Amino acid sequence: MLSLPLPPGPKGYPIVGNLFSTPKKMPWKTFHEWSKTYGDVLYLDIPKQPTIVLDSAEAVIELLEKRSDIYSDRTQYVMDELMFHRWNFVIMRYGPEWRTHRRLFHQHFNQRESMQYRPAQLRGSRDFLRRALDGSVSLGENLRLYVSVVPRVPLLYLTPPIFPVYTLRLFSRSYMIWTLTPMDNEYIHLSHDAFETASTIRIPGAFWIEFFPLLKYLPDWVPGTGHFKRHAKRGTELWTRMHHEPFDSIKQSIRDGKSGDSVIARMLETVRDSSDEQQEMIVRNVIGITYGGAADTTTTAAQSFVIAMSLHPEVQRKAQEELDRVIGPNRLPEFSDFEELIYIQAIVLESLRWNVVLPVGVPHRAIREDEFRGFRIPKGATIIPNLWAMLRNPDEFPEPHLFKPERFLTEDGHLNPNVRNPSTISFGFGRRVCPGRWFASAALFISISTILHTMDIHPIIGEDGVPYNPFDVEIDGILMNSENVPCTMTPRSKNVERLIHDWEASSA
Ligand code: HEM
Repeated sequence: MLSLPLPPGPKGYPIVGNLFSTPKKMPWKTFHEWSKTYGDVLYLDIPKQPTIVLDSAEAVIELLEKRSDIYSDRTQYVMDELMFHRWNFVIMRYGPEWRTHRRLFHQHFNQRESMQYRPAQLRGSRDFLRRALDGSVSLGENLRLYVSVVPRVPLLYLTPPIFPVYTLRLFSRSYMIWTLTPMDNEYIHLSHDAFETASTIRIPGAFWIEFFPLLKYLPDWVPGTGHFKRHAKRGTELWTRMHHEPFDSIKQSIRDGKSGDSVIARMLETVRDSSDEQQEMIVRNVIGITYGGAADTTTTAAQSFVIAMSLHPEVQRKAQEELDRVIGPNRLPEFSDFEELIYIQAIVLESLRWNVVLPVGVPHRAIREDEFRGFRIPKGATIIPNLWAMLRNPDEFPEPHLFKPERFLTEDGHLNPNVRNPSTISFGFGRRVCPGRWFASAALFISISTILHTMDIHPIIGEDGVPYNPFDVEIDGILMNSENVPCTMTPRSKNVERLIHDWEASSA
């Protein structure tokens, strides 16, 4: 196979190859530009990190899906080692250790198990409303709390905990919010910061140490080492906390009899009678990553939805017509409304497509040499699927920059099976496909229907008179997260408070 040529790609310089021509910010856009010249499988000559970019769904399906026995590994970064977070199974090598972790995760988040978290997800969506009405936090923070807490609710409490909770004043009444504890709030920010440190190192060429690993032995005072050492120090601190704090605090509250049933409690149950420290470590690792893996990704998808709504009032109105017709003014949306809320389902799909959460996914790695379309894929190559390009392909999604849920519907208003479902791309591929996808999709469905049923979303207009879209600016790393959500929400009617209260009373 060695005689086969590498896939085509932009010409590089001697020794450094494409290192300097690969942009450090939003490289997916440049990858896509290059693919117009070199094709949908392109080779980047990055020192010590031969990289293949897959720019089409066809190429990704052929390699990452159909040949997943070869392409399910992950590239190992020196920076990951320096940040001490190799326990994180998202970045683990493909093999028995990864399999054991993934199996434990899957037991609790497979399609069937994910359904048991729906009551908690429903409650999370209503707590969001309370905070929105109260105005106690900004919209951006509320989304972060809401979407991040939703994954956490079942992780921490399937039944209300006994220990202290927040009380929030909403208009003249007080409600107990048992889904949000100060501890949750802290972990939301912790996981955001930790994932950010891991995200930035995945941009090719972001850290020189990947090409000169011996740099790690140099003392701190040597000029040029500050950048990666500072990053590694911060990453180590954050990832160590992620590894220990959620697990230890829940374990302690279970010991003290202060925690209700929870996924964590269930996972811990599997090691309760075991003296095997290895088993406990696996549970600790999985819990550490579950807490974080769910947060920023789902928050980003919810941010995209809110921003898209502020920019497309016509979509809001259409969705609200559907909600008024199916649900009416006297109750809030339920999961059982799913089948009838077709337009909302299309909005969920469009939210996953329009501003893809992870534009280059999480890169895979080729375990062994392979041949594709007459080209050689080198053993150990980093494989970057360009999700952004696939979800912005105008042949499949005409006018891809527009937020148009109608693209997923037939003329008579059903979901169109002939249009590619964006969740087959935005959640990744093959054996590494996101195992939290059922959970995340359910969280998005119930949040989107609850928000649109009760609130109107408005844009904040910039100085140039144009609504501000934070996703138009350049971001660092591989996650399309925005620090702020420049929109406002107002209740659609005075009814909203009563609806929440009625629901609260009926579920007490
Ligand atoms: C809208 C929300 C989400 C999006 C768009 C998303 C997207 C992704 C993507 C693109 C990957 C990489 C797949 C690949 O390697 O090809 C991934 C992996 C992963 N996701 Fe998600 N995700 C979301 C929500 C969640 C949630 C809610 C959880 C946990 C409850 C979760 C847990 C994980 C884990 C553990 C992995 C690593 C899997 C492995 O390497 O074996 N994700 N996700």
